[in-house]
Amino acid sequence: MADASVITVDGVVRPVSPEPPRSLLSILCDELGLTGAKLGCGEGECGACTVLVDGQPVKSCHVYATEAIGRSVTTIEGLAPGGAHPVQRAFVEEGAFQCGYRTPGLVMSAVALLGRVADPDDAEITDALSGNLCRCGTYPRIRRAVHRAARLTAREGAPGGTPGTAAEAQAADWTDGRAADSAPGSEHPRPQRPWDLVEPEERDWFAVLPDGLVVAWDPRTAGPAGAGGHGAGGGWGTGGGAWLHAAADGRVTAFTGKVNLGQDNRTALSLLVADELRVPRSASATTGA
Ligand code: FES
Repeated sequence: MADASVITVDGVVRPVSPEPPRSLLSILCDELGLTGAKLGCGEGECGACTVLVDGQPVKSCHVYATEAIGRSVTTIEGLAPGGAHPVQRAFVEEGAFQCGYRTPGLVMSAVALLGRVADPDDAEITDALSGNLCRCGTYPRIRRAVHRAARLTAREGAPGGTPGTAAEAQAADWTDGRAADSAPGSEHPRPQRPWDLVEPEERDWFAVLPDGLVVAWDPRTAGPAGAGGHGAGGGWGTGGGAWLHAAADGRVTAFTGKVNLGQDNRTALSLLVADELRVPRSASATTGA
């Protein structure tokens, strides 16, 4: 049996056998169960597999695990407990993803960027993240998220502050961010946690929406009874629930109850909702898509 060498992953020393030759990504995902870094192209082009090696972003599909021997590897799992790193929070708060598949790689590249440039401009962000693709095309939000993360970091200091301080800063930035992005229709209030990671009874959607009328999709008519997920009532099954909220000011929010892979689904659904309800596009927002 070949001698084991070690790499340090998220602060933990791990033995790694150099034989058979494997990529660093394979070690992380298949042997250590760290599945945040994703296999995308497998050719070093898409950035889905990005981790930090000694603080530098590396496409882990494209380096041998042996190249990381004696070095320090940071995965998205090791950034901060519970996704509390400023970059992670900023991505959530800005909704800087749609399918989320390549988001961990983008987050890691953003972390590396902010490690060397405290307050990057748009061009620096674009350059630093140019090796990380987002098939859903959320680049404007990603750029906003990096700016937000820079503000959070400046306010809190480097990651690792006390939880209370971080929570207060997060709440303050949430308010500041909404004020800063106050162009009509440019920002939509979001719950603290992604809906698909929260039990239905704990979701706080209606806490962030104003008073209004709520129309809920009856799940009994939306079961997956028929082909293609069509239920007895002819609708599509939505295990996450589906509803529509009409606020007193005319703003409409529709929640699909689904997470969809694909490009620009959120925009397309917003247009459909606006068309169907005869409200201006600017008054319609769709979530959960
Ligand atoms: S999977 Fe590594 S760069 Fe695409």
